[in-house]
Amino acid sequence: MNEKIMLAALAACLAGFAGAATDGSASRPYHGDAFLLQTKSTTLALRRENGAWNVAHYGARVESAADVAALAWNRWTGGHKYEQRRPAAYAAYGGDRANGYSFNKWGGLQVTHADGNLSLTLVGEEARTVPDAPGVTHLVLKQRDSVRPFFVTQHFRAYEACDVIETWVELENGEKGAVRLGRMDSFAMDFPLLADAFRFQYATGQWGVEAQLRETPVERGQTVTIGSRSGVRDAFGNNASFMLTIGAASTETTGRVIGGVLCWSGTWNIGVQRDPCDFVEIRAGADTSAGAYVLDAGKSITLPKFAFTYSDSGKGQISRNIHRWARDWQMPAGHKLRPVLLNSWEGSYFSFTEQVLHDMMDGVKEMGGELFVLDDGWFGTGKYARDNVHRDKVGLGDWVVNPEKLPNGLVGLSDEAKKRGLKFGFWVEPEMVNTNSWIFEAHPDWVIREEGRPVNVGRGGSQTVLDYSNPAVRDNIFGQLDALYSKIPDLSYIKWDANADFFNMGSTYLDAAHQANLPFDYTVGLYDLLAKLRAKYPQVDIQACSSGGGRVDYGFLRYADEVWASDDTDARERVFIQWGEGQFFPACAIAAHVTDVPNHQTKRITPLKFRFDVAMSARLGFELHPKNMSAEDLAFAKKCVSAYKRIRPTVQQGDLYRLISPYGNKYAALMYVNGDASHAVVFLWGLARGVMSDYVPPLALQGLDAGKSYTVKEINVVKDKHSRVNGKTLSGKTLMAMGLPVRLRGDYDSAVFELTAK
Ligand code: DGJ
Repeated sequence: MNEKIMLAALAACLAGFAGAATDGSASRPYHGDAFLLQTKSTTLALRRENGAWNVAHYGARVESAADVAALAWNRWTGGHKYEQRRPAAYAAYGGDRANGYSFNKWGGLQVTHADGNLSLTLVGEEARTVPDAPGVTHLVLKQRDSVRPFFVTQHFRAYEACDVIETWVELENGEKGAVRLGRMDSFAMDFPLLADAFRFQYATGQWGVEAQLRETPVERGQTVTIGSRSGVRDAFGNNASFMLTIGAASTETTGRVIGGVLCWSGTWNIGVQRDPCDFVEIRAGADTSAGAYVLDAGKSITLPKFAFTYSDSGKGQISRNIHRWARDWQMPAGHKLRPVLLNSWEGSYFSFTEQVLHDMMDGVKEMGGELFVLDDGWFGTGKYARDNVHRDKVGLGDWVVNPEKLPNGLVGLSDEAKKRGLKFGFWVEPEMVNTNSWIFEAHPDWVIREEGRPVNVGRGGSQTVLDYSNPAVRDNIFGQLDALYSKIPDLSYIKWDANADFFNMGSTYLDAAHQANLPFDYTVGLYDLLAKLRAKYPQVDIQACSSGGGRVDYGFLRYADEVWASDDTDARERVFIQWGEGQFFPACAIAAHVTDVPNHQTKRITPLKFRFDVAMSARLGFELHPKNMSAEDLAFAKKCVSAYKRIRPTVQQGDLYRLISPYGNKYAALMYVNGDASHAVVFLWGLARGVMSDYVPPLALQGLDAGKSYTVKEINVVKDKHSRVNGKTLSGKTLMAMGLPVRLRGDYDSAVFELTAK
């Protein structure tokens, strides 16, 4: 939509809205006191009352602005003596003064002004839209404190096609001195009386067991919060995403649900508060537990982005909306098909020679792979060489090849990969150093540390975090990486690892007054470095890894193409981990590797077919030494890779439908459907089955075209087939109504079906 048409449509939306003050001209983007922010199926209705911007509705799309005005909650919620609050578009501590005696002590923004005053009463200018991409409505609400020159600008970008709204806030300190931000949430939206029951689904976990789903009721009077204070591994503990069911419990296909993701890799918190008057506030933003952020006079700060969506047909639609938004808008190259790769880690760990790596390249080439990635252990020199003896104890921060291990360097390896028709990538951990490194010897003040206290360290007894708030540190790392990247003309992939938390809290770069800014400024610095690298090397894909799935977040995925889902590569565990991450992250962004058995983390032995059937539901890769595979296994692998390349567009770019959850069941199933519903892929995994029990019901397929017929073909077949309708052509309508009949035999049996429209 061009800007004129968009504005005309907006003007039409507002016609008849009580109190709306448009000037009647489609050429001036002012919309007065009310605004219906529309997407295909949702509406966020905002209105300005007593000078402040409130929420009138968020949910299913409505067209009549006049009806919204008539039906909107028009009193402060509560009505009695307890905590009177208005349904603010951005709730701030100290606002809500309309009745003369109310004072909001909640909200997502708390400002201690230069003169020591603690409150903020936001008054807003009228709504205005600004030009944006086709299919996006960009609304700007300018607000300021009623008394002091402190400015809050709230942005909303509504994506028509995927029903997602992104929002972020810019704060500007026009006061004479610094202000302190005790809370600085990106989103703090209040919803009055949406329902009488709420349930909060979130993903929690830690190393090796990321993204385990939990759901908890939010009872009246409760605030449910999740967060991370790591500073780096922001998705360990909890993932910065949630689904909030409004009213009756939701399922994959039923119920009213709001879903949200915070796009931030630093410390964060998300909270849903249901107050004793059933007033619901959703807050999400950067965490300030280290202390208030100090914003100097005349300075501005842009807070992280938060993206949210609504579905009245259950959680599945929330996932599909966010996946689509991610591929279309958030990820740098969300539509690029991800390659099948082999990463060297579990195949050799630190113990490799050039020959070992060449053999791995031969193996992955033979299986049909497209990219070879060298993991940890290739760098460091002299006494700090990361060799087979010192392993993870030395060398981080010295991004120079270890010539003992790789006499021909990374360039030599890249050439070898090229000879075999493979692309090449390698591992780095740019935010960390070992205290046993040349860089630390030269710059001990470059790490996050506290004056007068010893530096705490993590992995290898010597690993700690660089101070990325310091531009000199970032410049050094950029310079080192640039020197490496620029020498490898065919470089196509970087695994960006990060295996530490803030073990200390202090910066020698920031002055005493700004110490608590460190967690926020670190992340801003990180993004600055990533943006520079991405701009200079757009062809180099990035994997976000952080001890496995410690960086599964949309802040990092603004610059990266995928995440390493977990260091736990056991296929059974991966069913759960990928299920959890798949709630918000599309399959193209979830790296899943076939590894050896017994599995290195769990010692479990699962069939190779099961390992393929699980990994092929995301971005397929390998982490093993192909030399250890039997001829039979290699032949099967070859068959699977070739099938994966065929189904890859549907898996990586299609719509996800979750059919049977692994939670509470002894099997699980999901499917992907491509854009025009001409192709679908169904995955079924058996987890543990009893005898004469636990029969899998017919899989009630979703997302097919009811008017089309589909030929069912099982792929990755070893011996047994898993459906009696294999090879048959059946109507999409009947397959959705009656389901695909399937059968599993024993533990870790599995099946993959391809459905192709006639
Ligand atoms: C942690 C990562 O998650 C692993 O995949 C591997 O890259 C190691 N670090 C290497 O040190």
